[in-house]
Amino acid sequence: MTHSLPTFVPPARLLLGPGPSDVAPSVLRALAAPTLGHLDPKLFEALDQIRAMLRTLFGTRNAATLAVSGTGTSGMEAVLCNLIEPGDAVLVPVHGYFGARVAEIAARCGADVVRVDGTWGRVSDVAAARVACQGRRIRVVAVVHAETSTGVREDLEAWRDLSRELGALFVADTVTSLGCIPIDADAHGLDAAWSCTQKGLSCTPGLAPVTFSERALERIRARSRKVQSFYFDLGLLLDFWGGAHAYHHTISSNLLYALHEAARLVLAEGLEQRFAQHSAASRACVAGLEALGLSLLVEEAQRLPQLLAVRIPSDVPDVSVRTRLLQDFGIEIGGGLGPFKGQLWRVGLMGHGATRRNVTTLLAALGACLRAEGFQPRGDGVAAAERVFSGAERGAASVAR
Ligand SMILES: Cc1ncc(COP(=O)(O)O)c(C=O)c1O
Repeated sequence: MTHSLPTFVPPARLLLGPGPSDVAPSVLRALAAPTLGHLDPKLFEALDQIRAMLRTLFGTRNAATLAVSGTGTSGMEAVLCNLIEPGDAVLVPVHGYFGARVAEIAARCGADVVRVDGTWGRVSDVAAARVACQGRRIRVVAVVHAETSTGVREDLEAWRDLSRELGALFVADTVTSLGCIPIDADAHGLDAAWSCTQKGLSCTPGLAPVTFSERALERIRARSRKVQSFYFDLGLLLDFWGGAHAYHHTISSNLLYALHEAARLVLAEGLEQRFAQHSAASRACVAGLEALGLSLLVEEAQRLPQLLAVRIPSDVPDVSVRTRLLQDFGIEIGGGLGPFKGQLWRVGLMGHGATRRNVTTLLAALGACLRAEGFQPRGDGVAAAERVFSGAERGAASVAR
């Protein structure tokens, strides 16, 4: 039997949800270059350059910096399965959906998880964690830097200090922070971190940047048993990414070209400029949302610029508004997770997508969708955002992109 289906043509979308974010055009072009074999010497040049760029993005000199095959969760698995041995006590503060995933994966690695639950929408309580760890020999502290389910930014320095006090390795999920807000893995005392390609780097999903400190490598060398996962065994991955370039798995050369281009674009623009762009777009978007009569879940001091959790007014139907945004305007935003299902919209302004044009387009479309659902916006969201953008333009950072 033969099938004659037309080519699948995805519709044009503006991706302003929790990820993926819109992919930069030159990254899409990079993906379309001819596939190289994973052991082609020419590809090794790209690997070396990617590693150097990832070190700059993570703010580290760690030799063991590379990208594993898979999405952000693969980076999480890779870090946790290399650093945890069965029975190890692992502290995981949980104040959102992804903290819970870290706890779950740590438990699957055999950890004795010391889970400290906090309030979703607020930073975790370091003092409560300290109390929970009393009398325990904590081996790893695992924290979500940017909790995408709520838009909260965790204070890495406070967790670094507690990790040192406990004599534990300190690791962080930087899936929603890499490229959006500063990460200085070395200064933040991170022994390992994982991220993704599809958010702040504006690449397609498919690879997960990871970095491991020398202390983390020592812990891995001292393991009493092999890493249970063959696919994520750091030693084997380093044999491929490093000098010997030994076969381990058939990594996608096309995804590597895309990551190379995405990282190159971020660094060509400059990390400081990139952070300023996220901050300006976010401030403008918040002003616009508030002008529409909407409020934010997270207080300003703890809020991520790149992920805004917006409370849905009680008389507004969540799914109808998001469906209108998608069908009438081609705009994707996210809904709430866990206890916030139906109560929050999650607006992502990440990487290439953190622009003046995207902010004003979203505010105009959201205003129209709210009116269509019978909710009268209090004021003009676009005008409020524009006031912030013109103020920011007079400042140091250009936000005209
Ligand atoms: C903070 C955080 N960690 C982990 C993940 C999992 O990443 P992925 O869906 O790419 O596997 C996500 C996904 O959004 C995330 O936001």
